[in-house]
Amino acid sequence: MHAMVYRGPYKIRVEEKDIPKIEHPNDAIVRVKTAAICGSDLHLYHGLMPDTRVGTTFGHEFVGTVHQVGPSVQNLAPGDKVMVPFNIYCGSCYFCSRGLFSNCHNVNPNATAVGAIYGYSHTCGGYDGGQAEFVRVPFADVGPVKIPPWMDEEDAVMLTDALPTGYFGAQLGDIAQGDTVVVFGAGPVGLFAAKSAWLMGAGRVIVVDHLQYRLDKARTFAHAETCNFAQIPDIVVHLKRITDHLGADVAIDAVGAEADGNFIQHVTAAKLKLQGGSPIALNWAIDAVRKGGTVSVVGAYGPVFSAVKFGDALNKGLTLRMNQCPVKRQWPRLFEHIQAGYLKPSDIVTHRIPLEHIAEGYHLFSAKLDGCIKPLIIFPAT
Ligand SMILES: NC(=O)c1ccc[n+]([C@@H]2O[C@H](COP(=O)([O-])OP(=O)(O)OC[C@H]3O[C@@H](n4cnc5c(N)ncnc54)[C@H](O)[C@@H]3O)[C@@H](O)[C@H]2O)c1
Ligand SMILES: [Zn+2]
Ligand SMILES: [Zn+2]
Repeated sequence: MHAMVYRGPYKIRVEEKDIPKIEHPNDAIVRVKTAAICGSDLHLYHGLMPDTRVGTTFGHEFVGTVHQVGPSVQNLAPGDKVMVPFNIYCGSCYFCSRGLFSNCHNVNPNATAVGAIYGYSHTCGGYDGGQAEFVRVPFADVGPVKIPPWMDEEDAVMLTDALPTGYFGAQLGDIAQGDTVVVFGAGPVGLFAAKSAWLMGAGRVIVVDHLQYRLDKARTFAHAETCNFAQIPDIVVHLKRITDHLGADVAIDAVGAEADGNFIQHVTAAKLKLQGGSPIALNWAIDAVRKGGTVSVVGAYGPVFSAVKFGDALNKGLTLRMNQCPVKRQWPRLFEHIQAGYLKPSDIVTHRIPLEHIAEGYHLFSAKLDGCIKPLIIFPAT
C-alpha cells in the first residue's frame, strides 16, 4: 500500500509499506477513504514531539471502509463505512470508564499522562496513522462508529478531531449565558471553538490570530469579532480595553506550544530548547481573562515544561481546564447540531490533496500558504 512516511523534520514522503495485519482479535483494518492533516501533525512535522520515529506514518483524522475484522469484533463488518476518533482507547479501564478516553491506561506504555493517538509518535503509543491506504484500528468495537447515512463524508472527517476538540474547548470554558469568550488561534480548532461558544450561550466571541485570511474566516464562519495581534501593540491591553477593562469571562487557547508573537519565548523554546514550546498564547489567555474567569486549553503542549504564568493564574483565582479531547464523548450532541443544520464542519476545508502529493499538503499547511485552513487527503477510488 501507499503511505505517508516521516523521514525527519520537514521531510515527508509517500512510500510503499505492507498492509497492516490483524494483531489482536478486536482489531479492524480500515481502508482509508478521506483523511486530514491536523495542526497537531505540524508539531510532528517540525520535529518537536519527542520520540517521533523515522519510518512512521502520521494521521489521526480519517474515515474509510472496514476491510477486515478480527474474530471478536461484533459491531463492525467488512464494507461498513466508519469514522474513527483520534483516540485509541480500551473503553473499560479506570480512566475510560470515567469518560477520559484520551487518558486510557491500557494502550500506551508511556501512559502516565496521555493515552494513545493514531500516528502520533511513540510518546503516544507508537501506532501508525491513517494518512495511508490502510490502517490498523485497535479496539474496533470501542472507538469507531458507522457513518450515519445522512452525514457527508467530509463532515465525518471533521468529527474525528478538529470539531469535537473545538467544541470541547468551549465546553471546558464553562460558558454562562452572555459570557464574553476570547479564542486564541483561528485554525480549525479555534474556528470550531468560536462557533461552539455561541451554541453554549456566549454573548460575545472574539478571535485572535495574526493571519488575516483566517480571521476573515472567523468572521464569516463563526460570526466572531476579530483581533489581529500583529497589528496591535499590546493584545492583552487591547482585549482588556474592549471588555470594560475587566477582561473576558472565558479564554480558550487553541494555539498550543508553537505560538508566535513573543520573541523571547520563541528564542528560549525553538532556538535554545530551554522550554517545551512557547506558551505565549496561554499566557495571553491568563492575562486577558478577568479575575475568577476560566482558561480552557486545547492547544497542544508536549511533555517538556513551559514557562506559564502560573502565579498570575493563581492570584487571579482562575480556573484552568485542559485535556486532549475525548472525541466520542462529544459525538451525540455534535451529530444533533449537524443534522439540525447549526454546524457545517466541512465549510472550513480549503484543500483536497491526493495522497501522492501529501508532502506539498504539509508544506502549504505548515507555511500557511494559499489560504490554507484545513487540508484533506484524498485517496484513489477503489
Ligand atoms: N487537545 C486536543 O485534543 C487537540 C486536538 C487537535 C488539535 N490540538 C491542538 O490545537 C492547536 C490548534 O490546532 P489547529 O489544527 O487549529 O492548528 P493550526 O496550526 O492550523 O492553527 C493554529 C493557529 O494559531 C495561530 N497563532 C499562532 N500564534 C498565536 C498567538 N500567539 N495567538 C493567537 N493565535 C496564534 C496561528 O496563526 C494559526 O492560525 C494545535 O496545538 C493542535 O496540536 C489539540
Ligand atoms: Zn489532531
Ligand atoms: Zn482505557
